[in-house]
Amino acid sequence: MKKKLPHAYSVRRFVLGAVSAAAMMTGSAALAQAQEPVQPVKPHKVTEPAKVELGKKLFFDPRLSRSGFISCNSCHNLSMGGADNIKTSIGDKWQKGPINSPTVLNSSLNLAQFWDGRAKDLREQAGGPIANPGEMAFSHDLAVDMLRSIPQYVAEFKSVFGNDKLTIGEVTAAIAAFEETLVTPHARFDQWLQGNTKAINAQELRGYQLFKNSGCVACHNGVNLGGSSFQKMGLIEPYKTDNPAEGRSAVTGNDAERFSFKVPTLRNVELTYPYFHDGAADTLSQAVDTMGRIQLGKNFSKTENADIVAFLKTLTGEQPKLVLPILPPSSDATKRPQPFD
Ligand code: HEC
Ligand code: HEC
Repeated sequence: MKKKLPHAYSVRRFVLGAVSAAAMMTGSAALAQAQEPVQPVKPHKVTEPAKVELGKKLFFDPRLSRSGFISCNSCHNLSMGGADNIKTSIGDKWQKGPINSPTVLNSSLNLAQFWDGRAKDLREQAGGPIANPGEMAFSHDLAVDMLRSIPQYVAEFKSVFGNDKLTIGEVTAAIAAFEETLVTPHARFDQWLQGNTKAINAQELRGYQLFKNSGCVACHNGVNLGGSSFQKMGLIEPYKTDNPAEGRSAVTGNDAERFSFKVPTLRNVELTYPYFHDGAADTLSQAVDTMGRIQLGKNFSKTENADIVAFLKTLTGEQPKLVLPILPPSSDATKRPQPFD
């Protein structure tokens, strides 16, 4: 049986193709932008700076792990595109992680968090790794005890949340507020979408046209070029992997969603190698080749592949400019970490 692309794909492709061509002819940048299947990332406006600052400290604080050594930033390195650039992450006691670490950049724009979408938002997500034995291997109670033992944290939580409770809910809310600032606007491609025709070159534009016309946009669309749906990995041809992850069916129990994963964002994809949930594709060229074959039944030529890769590299946005937070010191009452036992 011939498998179908996501619903309404062919209609959209026709409409989008026709309209964007028309828009380019009239030279109307505003019209062109409105008709493209991809929209620019908007800069984030910080409304609660003190909460963001606290969240940043927590994101970088390794004392939220049992070993006292692993922070969120260990696996979502903000100096490296918000990922760890290894196939699957390394957790507590050098454990081999089960799955590739997705970037935290622009993750607030995704419909849900994790490859299988099991957390509905960043707040729900942030509680996971702290207590995950294969990641930070702590517990929510121990994390809260640690923070309560540090007077500067106690004062900061109080001033941000207006109470003396210091709960795990406040911890995850602060981390989420920080993560919401991690968007990457002003990519060259966004500048092009906004009417600067010189922002991308002829090869990159060819790559984008191919990306649209071959059907990549059926799944990789919207602001994040992904993150808006769950799709089968291996739609036309099965994907071969030793990785046991089942995808969406693990969450919904619906066998039809076996091997459906959240479509990853392609923003900053140049920085977030290796690719796929199992980290099996080392290079963008490999990832594009695999996608063409197994999702669309297309074998791209070398030039076509290079054009799409060139386009994907225009999606690297302005990286968050961070001042490294200075973390408050442990007090005499802070329980010492146990990295080796
Ligand atoms: C040991 C490595 C490791 C640590 C430490 C870690 N993460 Fe992750 N993170 C991962 C992996 C692996 C995934 C994907 C897991 C999955 O989908 O099943 C992930 C997923 C995520 C996602 C979902 C992104 C998306 O697009 O789906 C967010 C957000 C995130 N982590 C934030 C955090 C925060 C905040 C912390 C600290 C509290 C943290 N992570 C600590 C490895 C790590
Ligand atoms: C039917 C939906 C669909 C289509 C069509 C599709 N993709 Fe994907 N893409 C996905 C899914 C789902 C994943 C994640 C799969 C996984 O890791 O198991 C993915 C992953 C990727 C990744 C790796 C991203 C990362 O961070 O790991 C790249 C790059 C990519 N796609 C590019 C493309 C290109 C280029 C095309 C067109 C040739 C395309 N995709 C067509 C659904 C699709």
